[in-house]
Amino acid sequence: MSLSALQQIPADVANLADFEAHARACMSEQAFAYLNGGAADEQVLRANRAAWDAIKLWPRVLRDLSGGHTRITLLGREWPQPVALAPIAYQRLAHPDGELASAYAAAAQGAGLILSAQASMPMQGVAQAMLSEADRGPLWFQLYWRDDRDFMRELLQRIEAAGFEALVLTVDAPVHGARDRERRAGFKLPDDIRAVNLGGLKKPLDLAPGQSAMFDGLMPRAAKWAEIDWLRQHSRLPLLLKGVAHPEDAREAQRRGVAGLIVSNHGGRTLDALPTTAELLPMLRATMGEDFPLLVDGGIRRGTDVLKAIALGANAVLLGRPYVHALATAGALGVAHALRLLRDELEIAMALCGCKQLSEAGPHLLWQTRL
Ligand code: GLV
Repeated sequence: MSLSALQQIPADVANLADFEAHARACMSEQAFAYLNGGAADEQVLRANRAAWDAIKLWPRVLRDLSGGHTRITLLGREWPQPVALAPIAYQRLAHPDGELASAYAAAAQGAGLILSAQASMPMQGVAQAMLSEADRGPLWFQLYWRDDRDFMRELLQRIEAAGFEALVLTVDAPVHGARDRERRAGFKLPDDIRAVNLGGLKKPLDLAPGQSAMFDGLMPRAAKWAEIDWLRQHSRLPLLLKGVAHPEDAREAQRRGVAGLIVSNHGGRTLDALPTTAELLPMLRATMGEDFPLLVDGGIRRGTDVLKAIALGANAVLLGRPYVHALATAGALGVAHALRLLRDELEIAMALCGCKQLSEAGPHLLWQTRL
Protein backbone atom coordinates (compact mmCIF):
# COMPACT_ATOMS: atom_id res chain seq x y z
CA MET A 1 0.00 0.00 0.00
CA SER A 2 1.37 3.44 -0.82
CA LEU A 3 0.36 7.04 -0.28
CA SER A 4 -0.96 9.49 -2.85
CA ALA A 5 0.99 12.60 -3.87
CA LEU A 6 2.20 14.93 -1.14
CA GLN A 7 -0.25 17.70 -0.30
CA GLN A 8 0.40 21.12 1.17
CA ILE A 9 -0.48 22.42 4.60
CA PRO A 10 -2.72 25.49 4.18
CA ALA A 11 -0.86 28.66 5.16
CA ASP A 12 -3.48 29.67 7.74
CA VAL A 13 -3.04 26.54 9.87
CA ALA A 14 -1.29 27.56 13.09
CA ASN A 15 -2.81 25.04 15.47
CA LEU A 16 -4.88 21.85 15.51
CA ALA A 17 -8.27 23.58 15.60
CA ASP A 18 -7.37 25.42 12.38
CA PHE A 19 -7.62 22.16 10.43
CA GLU A 20 -11.34 21.84 11.17
CA ALA A 21 -12.61 24.40 8.66
CA HIS A 22 -10.41 22.88 5.97
CA ALA A 23 -11.70 19.40 6.77
CA ARG A 24 -15.28 20.62 6.51
CA ALA A 25 -14.52 21.89 3.02
CA CYS A 26 -12.83 18.61 1.98
CA MET A 27 -15.35 16.08 3.34
CA SER A 28 -18.94 15.39 2.40
CA GLU A 29 -21.43 17.07 4.72
CA GLN A 30 -22.63 13.65 5.90
CA ALA A 31 -19.17 12.29 6.64
CA PHE A 32 -18.20 15.47 8.46
CA ALA A 33 -21.35 15.26 10.62
CA TYR A 34 -20.52 11.63 11.44
CA LEU A 35 -16.95 12.49 12.43
CA ASN A 36 -17.59 15.69 14.31
CA GLY A 37 -20.94 14.96 15.87
CA GLY A 38 -21.60 13.87 19.43
CA ALA A 39 -24.60 12.36 21.17
CA ALA A 40 -27.88 14.25 21.60
CA ASP A 41 -27.33 17.93 22.49
CA GLU A 42 -23.52 17.50 22.41
CA GLN A 43 -23.14 18.79 25.94
CA VAL A 44 -20.38 16.30 26.75
CA LEU A 45 -18.60 17.17 23.54
CA ARG A 46 -18.48 20.83 24.58
CA ALA A 47 -17.87 20.14 28.26
CA ASN A 48 -14.78 18.01 27.59
CA ARG A 49 -13.13 21.05 25.99
CA ALA A 50 -14.39 23.52 28.55
CA ALA A 51 -13.00 21.37 31.37
CA TRP A 52 -9.45 21.49 30.00
CA ASP A 53 -9.81 25.24 29.41
CA ALA A 54 -10.84 25.78 33.03
CA ILE A 55 -7.65 24.24 34.39
CA LYS A 56 -4.72 26.64 34.77
CA LEU A 57 -1.05 25.81 34.75
CA TRP A 58 1.25 27.34 37.37
CA PRO A 59 4.50 28.54 35.81
CA ARG A 60 7.98 28.26 37.31
CA VAL A 61 10.96 30.34 36.25
CA LEU A 62 14.76 30.37 36.25
CA ARG A 63 15.14 26.60 36.34
CA ASP A 64 17.80 24.66 34.47
CA LEU A 65 15.87 22.57 31.95
CA SER A 66 18.79 21.38 29.84
CA GLY A 67 18.36 17.76 28.82
CA GLY A 68 14.57 18.06 29.08
CA HIS A 69 12.42 15.88 26.82
CA THR A 70 8.88 14.59 26.14
CA ARG A 71 9.69 10.86 26.37
CA ILE A 72 7.71 8.53 28.58
CA THR A 73 7.91 4.82 29.31
CA LEU A 74 4.67 2.88 29.33
CA LEU A 75 3.91 -0.84 29.16
CA GLY A 76 7.56 -1.64 28.65
CA ARG A 77 8.20 0.67 25.70
CA GLU A 78 9.62 4.14 25.36
CA TRP A 79 7.32 6.64 23.66
CA PRO A 80 9.02 9.68 22.07
CA GLN A 81 6.02 11.76 23.05
CA PRO A 82 2.99 11.02 25.28
CA VAL A 83 0.44 11.10 22.46
CA ALA A 84 -1.34 8.38 20.49
CA LEU A 85 -3.86 8.63 17.67
CA ALA A 86 -7.23 7.50 19.02
CA PRO A 87 -9.08 4.66 17.28
CA ILE A 88 -11.35 6.36 14.76
CA ALA A 89 -13.33 4.26 12.30
CA TYR A 90 -13.45 4.52 8.50
CA GLN A 91 -10.71 7.07 7.91
CA ARG A 92 -11.10 6.73 4.14
CA LEU A 93 -14.17 8.91 4.67
CA ALA A 94 -11.71 11.72 5.32
CA HIS A 95 -8.99 10.94 2.77
CA PRO A 96 -8.28 8.20 0.20
CA ASP A 97 -5.06 7.30 2.08
CA GLY A 98 -7.11 6.70 5.24
CA GLU A 99 -5.50 4.86 8.14
CA LEU A 100 -2.29 4.30 6.18
CA ALA A 101 -1.61 8.05 6.14
CA SER A 102 -2.31 8.30 9.86
CA ALA A 103 0.11 5.44 10.52
CA TYR A 104 2.97 6.96 8.49
CA ALA A 105 2.41 10.28 10.24
CA ALA A 106 2.33 8.75 13.72
CA ALA A 107 5.47 6.76 12.97
CA ALA A 108 7.34 9.80 11.65
CA GLN A 109 6.38 11.92 14.67
CA GLY A 110 6.98 9.28 17.34
CA ALA A 111 3.31 9.18 18.32
CA GLY A 112 1.36 6.00 19.04
CA LEU A 113 -1.31 4.53 16.82
CA ILE A 114 -4.43 2.74 18.04
CA LEU A 115 -6.03 1.25 14.96
CA SER A 116 -9.81 1.00 15.01
CA ALA A 117 -11.34 -2.44 14.42
CA GLN A 118 -13.54 -0.55 11.98
CA ALA A 119 -10.57 0.65 10.00
CA SER A 120 -11.21 0.99 6.28
CA MET A 121 -7.78 -0.38 5.30
CA PRO A 122 -6.18 -3.78 5.97
CA MET A 123 -4.48 -3.92 9.35
CA GLN A 124 -1.32 -5.59 8.02
CA GLY A 125 -0.34 -2.71 5.72
CA VAL A 126 -1.13 -0.11 8.37
CA ALA A 127 0.94 -2.01 10.94
CA GLN A 128 3.87 -2.23 8.52
CA ALA A 129 3.82 1.54 8.05
CA MET A 130 4.35 1.93 11.81
CA LEU A 131 6.75 -0.97 12.26
CA SER A 132 9.09 0.32 9.55
CA GLU A 133 10.08 3.33 11.70
CA ALA A 134 12.68 2.70 14.41
CA ASP A 135 11.73 5.70 16.59
CA ARG A 136 8.02 5.07 16.46
CA GLY A 137 5.53 5.08 19.28
CA PRO A 138 3.37 2.09 20.28
CA LEU A 139 1.13 0.17 17.87
CA TRP A 140 -2.15 -0.97 19.47
CA PHE A 141 -5.39 -2.43 18.09
CA GLN A 142 -8.83 -1.36 19.32
CA LEU A 143 -11.71 -3.79 19.23
CA TYR A 144 -15.30 -4.18 20.22
CA TRP A 145 -16.46 -7.51 21.57
CA ARG A 146 -18.22 -9.57 18.87
CA ASP A 147 -20.36 -12.43 20.02
CA ASP A 148 -18.72 -14.97 17.71
CA ARG A 149 -15.84 -16.70 19.46
CA ASP A 150 -14.44 -18.38 16.35
CA PHE A 151 -14.30 -15.01 14.68
CA MET A 152 -12.73 -13.39 17.76
CA ARG A 153 -10.08 -16.14 18.03
CA GLU A 154 -9.11 -15.66 14.42
CA LEU A 155 -9.14 -11.85 14.74
CA LEU A 156 -6.84 -12.02 17.77
CA GLN A 157 -4.43 -14.20 15.80
CA ARG A 158 -4.40 -11.76 12.90
CA ILE A 159 -3.78 -8.83 15.27
CA GLU A 160 -0.79 -10.56 16.87
CA ALA A 161 0.60 -11.74 13.54
CA ALA A 162 0.44 -8.20 12.12
CA GLY A 163 2.67 -6.95 14.95
CA PHE A 164 0.26 -5.06 17.21
CA GLU A 165 1.55 -4.74 20.77
CA ALA A 166 -1.60 -4.31 22.84
CA LEU A 167 -5.37 -4.68 22.62
CA VAL A 168 -7.76 -1.91 23.55
CA LEU A 169 -11.30 -3.12 24.19
CA THR A 170 -13.86 -0.32 24.01
CA VAL A 171 -16.40 -1.05 26.73
CA ASP A 172 -18.49 2.11 26.84
CA ALA A 173 -20.38 1.68 23.58
CA PRO A 174 -22.20 -1.65 23.33
CA VAL A 175 -24.84 0.47 21.58
CA HIS A 176 -24.50 3.54 19.36
CA GLY A 177 -25.37 6.79 21.17
CA ALA A 178 -28.36 8.84 20.04
CA ARG A 179 -26.43 10.93 17.55
CA ASP A 180 -28.76 13.65 16.41
CA ARG A 181 -26.30 15.49 14.17
CA GLU A 182 -25.38 12.28 12.34
CA ARG A 183 -29.04 11.33 11.86
CA ARG A 184 -30.04 14.81 10.68
CA ALA A 185 -27.28 14.71 8.09
CA GLY A 186 -28.52 11.32 6.90
CA PHE A 187 -25.08 9.72 7.23
CA LYS A 188 -24.69 6.33 5.54
CA LEU A 189 -21.42 4.57 4.95
CA PRO A 190 -20.63 4.76 1.21
CA ASP A 191 -20.58 1.35 -0.55
CA ASP A 192 -16.83 1.46 -1.16
CA ILE A 193 -15.86 2.06 2.49
CA ARG A 194 -16.08 -0.91 4.84
CA ALA A 195 -14.61 -2.35 8.00
CA VAL A 196 -12.27 -4.48 5.90
CA ASN A 197 -10.72 -6.27 8.89
CA LEU A 198 -14.06 -7.61 10.12
CA GLY A 199 -15.09 -9.72 7.12
CA GLY A 200 -16.55 -13.12 7.97
CA LEU A 201 -18.40 -12.01 11.10
CA LYS A 202 -21.66 -13.93 11.57
CA LYS A 203 -24.85 -11.89 11.25
CA PRO A 204 -26.86 -11.73 14.52
CA LEU A 205 -30.02 -13.85 14.71
CA ASP A 206 -33.33 -12.13 13.97
CA LEU A 207 -35.43 -11.17 16.97
CA ALA A 208 -38.77 -12.83 17.63
CA PRO A 209 -41.83 -10.57 17.45
CA GLY A 210 -42.21 -8.53 20.63
CA GLN A 211 -38.54 -8.83 21.63
CA SER A 212 -36.55 -5.70 22.45
CA ALA A 213 -33.78 -4.79 20.01
CA MET A 214 -31.81 -3.42 22.97
CA PHE A 215 -32.37 -5.94 25.76
CA ASP A 216 -32.91 -9.10 23.73
CA GLY A 217 -30.73 -8.15 20.77
CA LEU A 218 -27.71 -5.96 21.52
CA MET A 219 -27.11 -6.27 25.24
CA PRO A 220 -27.03 -10.08 25.55
CA ARG A 221 -24.32 -10.10 22.87
CA ALA A 222 -22.26 -7.35 24.49
CA ALA A 223 -19.10 -8.06 26.53
CA LYS A 224 -19.38 -8.79 30.24
CA TRP A 225 -16.57 -9.37 32.73
CA ALA A 226 -16.32 -13.02 31.62
CA GLU A 227 -15.34 -11.83 28.15
CA ILE A 228 -12.46 -9.85 29.64
CA ASP A 229 -11.14 -13.13 31.08
CA TRP A 230 -11.73 -14.84 27.73
CA LEU A 231 -9.79 -12.18 25.85
CA ARG A 232 -6.92 -12.42 28.31
CA GLN A 233 -6.85 -16.20 27.89
CA HIS A 234 -6.88 -16.02 24.11
CA SER A 235 -4.27 -13.36 23.47
CA ARG A 236 -0.75 -12.85 24.76
CA LEU A 237 -1.06 -9.09 24.24
CA PRO A 238 -1.71 -6.76 27.18
CA LEU A 239 -5.36 -5.73 27.31
CA LEU A 240 -6.50 -2.17 28.07
CA LEU A 241 -10.10 -1.09 28.52
CA LYS A 242 -11.37 2.14 27.03
CA GLY A 243 -14.32 3.91 28.60
CA VAL A 244 -14.23 2.83 32.26
CA ALA A 245 -15.52 5.67 34.44
CA HIS A 246 -16.48 4.14 37.77
CA PRO A 247 -13.85 3.30 40.42
CA GLU A 248 -15.48 -0.07 41.12
CA ASP A 249 -15.26 -1.02 37.44
CA ALA A 250 -11.66 0.19 37.39
CA ARG A 251 -10.75 -1.98 40.38
CA GLU A 252 -12.53 -4.98 38.89
CA ALA A 253 -10.54 -4.49 35.67
CA GLN A 254 -7.31 -4.42 37.66
CA ARG A 255 -8.29 -7.58 39.58
CA ARG A 256 -8.85 -9.33 36.26
CA GLY A 257 -5.39 -8.47 35.00
CA VAL A 258 -6.25 -5.57 32.70
CA ALA A 259 -3.00 -3.74 31.90
CA GLY A 260 -4.33 -0.20 31.73
CA LEU A 261 -7.36 2.01 31.22
CA ILE A 262 -8.22 4.73 28.77
CA VAL A 263 -10.27 7.34 30.59
CA SER A 264 -12.79 8.34 27.96
CA ASN A 265 -16.41 9.32 27.39
CA HIS A 266 -16.07 8.31 23.74
CA GLY A 267 -15.56 11.90 22.64
CA GLY A 268 -19.10 12.74 23.78
CA ARG A 269 -20.57 10.24 21.31
CA THR A 270 -22.34 7.81 23.67
CA LEU A 271 -24.39 9.28 26.51
CA ASP A 272 -24.84 13.02 26.68
CA ALA A 273 -24.85 13.19 30.46
CA LEU A 274 -21.40 12.04 31.49
CA PRO A 275 -18.61 13.62 33.53
CA THR A 276 -15.82 15.15 31.52
CA THR A 277 -12.61 13.19 31.20
CA ALA A 278 -10.70 15.96 33.04
CA GLU A 279 -13.03 15.27 36.00
CA LEU A 280 -12.78 11.48 35.79
CA LEU A 281 -9.03 11.32 35.43
CA PRO A 282 -7.85 12.48 38.90
CA MET A 283 -10.48 10.30 40.58
CA LEU A 284 -9.35 7.22 38.66
CA ARG A 285 -5.69 8.01 39.29
CA ALA A 286 -6.44 8.19 43.03
CA THR A 287 -8.33 4.87 42.80
CA MET A 288 -5.70 3.00 40.84
CA GLY A 289 -2.53 4.22 42.57
CA GLU A 290 0.40 5.91 40.91
CA ASP A 291 1.78 3.00 38.87
CA PHE A 292 -1.29 1.80 36.95
CA PRO A 293 -1.27 2.87 33.25
CA LEU A 294 -3.96 5.49 32.60
CA LEU A 295 -4.48 7.31 29.32
CA VAL A 296 -7.11 9.93 28.63
CA ASP A 297 -8.93 11.37 25.62
CA GLY A 298 -11.72 13.84 24.93
CA GLY A 299 -11.13 17.44 23.91
CA ILE A 300 -7.32 17.43 23.78
CA ARG A 301 -6.46 20.21 21.33
CA ARG A 302 -3.37 21.95 22.75
CA GLY A 303 0.02 21.10 24.18
CA THR A 304 -1.17 22.76 27.38
CA ASP A 305 -4.05 20.23 27.49
CA VAL A 306 -1.50 17.41 27.27
CA LEU A 307 0.51 18.82 30.16
CA LYS A 308 -2.65 19.38 32.22
CA ALA A 309 -3.74 15.78 31.60
CA ILE A 310 -0.38 14.44 32.68
CA ALA A 311 -0.38 16.70 35.74
CA LEU A 312 -3.81 15.25 36.64
CA GLY A 313 -2.48 11.71 36.49
CA ALA A 314 -2.48 10.51 32.88
CA ASN A 315 0.57 8.74 31.51
CA ALA A 316 -0.38 9.72 27.97
CA VAL A 317 -3.23 11.16 25.93
CA LEU A 318 -5.15 10.17 22.82
CA LEU A 319 -5.82 12.67 20.09
CA GLY A 320 -9.15 12.21 18.28
CA ARG A 321 -11.07 14.36 15.82
CA PRO A 322 -8.30 16.94 15.15
CA TYR A 323 -6.01 14.42 13.50
CA VAL A 324 -8.79 13.31 11.18
CA HIS A 325 -9.39 16.97 10.31
CA ALA A 326 -5.68 17.17 9.46
CA LEU A 327 -5.96 13.92 7.47
CA ALA A 328 -8.87 15.29 5.45
CA THR A 329 -6.98 18.52 4.82
CA ALA A 330 -3.59 17.23 3.74
CA GLY A 331 -3.29 13.45 4.13
CA ALA A 332 -0.23 12.04 5.90
CA LEU A 333 1.52 15.40 5.88
CA GLY A 334 -1.49 16.98 7.58
CA VAL A 335 -1.50 14.42 10.39
CA ALA A 336 2.27 14.68 10.83
CA HIS A 337 1.97 18.46 10.97
CA ALA A 338 -0.80 18.29 13.58
CA LEU A 339 1.30 15.97 15.74
CA ARG A 340 4.33 18.22 15.38
CA LEU A 341 2.31 21.31 16.37
CA LEU A 342 0.98 19.53 19.44
CA ARG A 343 4.43 18.40 20.48
CA ASP A 344 5.92 21.87 19.95
CA GLU A 345 3.17 23.33 22.13
CA LEU A 346 3.80 20.68 24.79
CA GLU A 347 7.50 21.54 24.84
CA ILE A 348 6.67 25.24 25.21
CA ALA A 349 4.27 24.47 28.08
CA MET A 350 6.85 22.27 29.81
CA ALA A 351 9.56 24.91 29.44
CA LEU A 352 7.36 27.68 30.83
CA CYS A 353 6.21 25.54 33.76
CA GLY A 354 9.75 24.50 34.65
CA CYS A 355 9.03 20.88 33.82
CA LYS A 356 12.05 19.04 32.45
CA GLN A 357 10.44 15.64 32.00
CA LEU A 358 6.91 14.35 32.19
CA SER A 359 7.66 11.90 35.00
CA GLU A 360 8.03 15.04 37.18
CA ALA A 361 4.62 16.43 36.22
CA GLY A 362 1.95 16.36 38.90
CA PRO A 363 -0.70 18.48 40.58
CA HIS A 364 2.03 20.93 41.66
CA LEU A 365 1.96 22.19 38.04
CA LEU A 366 -1.67 23.23 38.38
CA TRP A 367 -2.97 26.46 39.80
CA GLN A 368 -5.66 25.78 42.40
CA THR A 369 -8.14 28.63 42.32
CA ARG A 370 -7.87 30.56 45.55
CA LEU A 371 -10.87 32.76 46.28
C1 GLV B 1 -17.42 4.58 16.97
O1 GLV B 1 -16.82 4.15 17.94
C2 GLV B 1 -17.94 5.90 16.92
O2 GLV B 1 -17.83 6.61 17.91
O3 GLV B 1 -18.48 6.28 15.86
